[in-house]
Amino acid sequence: MKSVVILISGRGSNMRALVEADLPGCKLVVVSNQPDAEGLAYARQRGLATAVVNHRDYPSRAAFDAALSEAIDMHQPDLVVLAGFMRILGEQFVRHYQGRLVNIHPSLLPVFPGLHTHAQALAAGVKVHGCTVHFVTPALDSGPIVIQAAVPVQAGDDEDTLAARVLAQEHIIYPRAVQWFLEGRLQLMEDGHVLLVGEQPVPARLIAPAGE
Ligand code: GRF
Repeated sequence: MKSVVILISGRGSNMRALVEADLPGCKLVVVSNQPDAEGLAYARQRGLATAVVNHRDYPSRAAFDAALSEAIDMHQPDLVVLAGFMRILGEQFVRHYQGRLVNIHPSLLPVFPGLHTHAQALAAGVKVHGCTVHFVTPALDSGPIVIQAAVPVQAGDDEDTLAARVLAQEHIIYPRAVQWFLEGRLQLMEDGHVLLVGEQPVPARLIAPAGE
């Protein structure tokens, strides 16, 4: 049985997508830094093991990271999944989980790292936007890319409509990436790229706006 620890801070819709994907041979554990995270209630209701490591209870970032690691390592995880986890993790923490720590970011990285990615996309006037699952490295929102999904930006979009379109894709690609990892199909190459073993060809293009 593989063990996957999911870290959340709020709504937890990506965690929910992972739970609902019902990945075979996989035990999920949910850890939150926010005691009142909406996603925790769902996880408890689904009978998953949960834990809270409240960052406010620790005098420093390093002390919080250490406590979080302890709560995670109790479950001997094969993979640690950041799913809307809103704390920056220190280098020591990241190195401890290097190669088994993934994140989902709501943009087509490397464009629009950081916060307010949908506002950034609208301000830039891009016609295609999306989301990225990547391995985590000490630098924020970078690291080897596992999978991306693209959506068109439509005339009249605002942050909410665009976020909803992207989020629907997040819920598809995150379970897929986790499944690939657990199947041992993700190979980290020397050039920092990720190779998917048995990769299938994808449709040739996405053009937006599509026009005639
Ligand atoms: C998602 O948009 C994710 O890409 C970002 O934070 C948001 C979390 O949403 N990292 P949820 O908590 O999974 O609903």
